[in-house]
Amino acid sequence: MSTVALHQKYRPQTIAELVGQPYIKTALTNAVKYLQIAPAYLFTGSRGTGKTSTARIFAKSLNCLNTKKPTDQPCGICQSCRSIETSNSLDVSEIDAASNNGVDDARALIERSTLAPVAGRYRIFILDECHCLTGNAFNALLKCIEEPPPHVVFILCTTELHKVLPTIVSRCQVFNFRTLSIQAIVQHLGIVADAESISIDEEALTAIARLSDGGLRDALQLLGQVSLLDEDITANHVMEIAGGVTETELMSILQAISTNNTFNLLQVARVLIDSGKTPKLILSNLLQTYRDLLIIKSAPKEQSLLTGCVSYAQLKVLANHWNFETLNLSLAELQKAENYLRYTVNAAVWLEVCLLNLIPSLLPVSASKTVTAKPVDDKGHDGKLLPAVAANTANLAQIWQQVMDTAKPSNQKLLAHANLVKLQDEKAILEVTPAYLNKFESSKEAIAKMLQRATQSQQPMTVLIKTANKSSNGRVKA
Ligand SMILES: Nc1ncnc2c1ncn2[C@@H]1O[C@H](COP(=O)(O)OP(=O)(O)O)[C@@H](O)[C@H]1O
Ligand SMILES: [Mg+2]
Ligand SMILES: [Zn+2]
Repeated sequence: MSTVALHQKYRPQTIAELVGQPYIKTALTNAVKYLQIAPAYLFTGSRGTGKTSTARIFAKSLNCLNTKKPTDQPCGICQSCRSIETSNSLDVSEIDAASNNGVDDARALIERSTLAPVAGRYRIFILDECHCLTGNAFNALLKCIEEPPPHVVFILCTTELHKVLPTIVSRCQVFNFRTLSIQAIVQHLGIVADAESISIDEEALTAIARLSDGGLRDALQLLGQVSLLDEDITANHVMEIAGGVTETELMSILQAISTNNTFNLLQVARVLIDSGKTPKLILSNLLQTYRDLLIIKSAPKEQSLLTGCVSYAQLKVLANHWNFETLNLSLAELQKAENYLRYTVNAAVWLEVCLLNLIPSLLPVSASKTVTAKPVDDKGHDGKLLPAVAANTANLAQIWQQVMDTAKPSNQKLLAHANLVKLQDEKAILEVTPAYLNKFESSKEAIAKMLQRATQSQQPMTVLIKTANKSSNGRVKA
């Protein structure tokens, strides 16, 4: 493993190597080809999108000694190219305005600009993070940028264009560096991972890309971090290392919500909080996931719009579970809780309340009218913790209906002799008419599979069969 950080090792060396930024690539290539060099450029855009790299490439393009004139393909090996790469060039000054922001620094720079270049064709000033310059320093520079000596080129870089004096901006050719798309980042990370023999799957790369807000520096940094693990890297590793909530964790929350499993739901939340994830983080991850679910509901083909860390495949299955309205109400619930979290001293409790409210039948305006306060578990299993939560018979009936709907017609008759009375921790209890007890006992495994499918649980189910007294309508009663 090399000791150089990936983002440094894989700094683009030519304009062609720059990822994304198609207009900037064309414009700068043509500027060099047709010798239309402006006295001042301003590169703006968010961090890690290639501003500093492009400034250096452009400087090399202008001063490469291996060609007679500026070239869009600097050699990278001549004395000029190499000294620019190591920031030792006499003709190219890279000034970090964040640490040299005073008017004296600006004056010193102006003085140097009057000197002719030593080895190259141009004297180039790269003013990185130029928004850090003081007003006085900017003003001192203004005149120089306005009418620089013919051999001088300024390249100003900034993440915060609004902090640069408008008079400066108006004198520069401005290039806006765009944040990179998830696809572009994934593709580039894939190339780097291959070159470095890092074993990482596509989903993990996508997770990295989503976490890095369109910037390649952060993306490469995170890739470098996870590459230190001695195993095949998955999205879960990425989320763990980035301190986020993992896909598995989010899925167990959603699974518990969709199967109405209040006990599991609160347990997952507890485990997450105990492992140091803040309620706010958990909530914002859930918010993102619900937002993704809503997108899948309304625009199933727009995979590129998804921003959360739960994969498209998993989301699609989950989305079948809920209708648009339920998702919308859930989002509203999450947003409300986000507001509460801001002011409360008891964030964990609010998170729990919010999670419970996400159970579809407990959403404020839901179809179910059978919300009664009742302990979750007759053995007192956390029952007192949940005054507002109903043991949700309506939902169990729904799940059982789903099982019946998907069963073969020949089996539906038998299944109608059972009621799902409990579903918790992948354990289902069926109450059946005594006469069919044996029949159900012998089909337990098949029923378990059907239940697993109906609840979209990832865990295998176990089914317990109990007898029940016959009710007046012939169906068994819970
Ligand atoms: N557009 C890009 N194409 C290829 N690599 C990039 C790009 N943007 C950023 N990088 C990667 O991130 C690192 C930092 O990029 P840099 O040019 O310093 O970004 P900025 O100055 O915009 O913050 C580079 O060394 C490179 O590895
Ligand atoms: Mg930079
Ligand atoms: Zn060169």
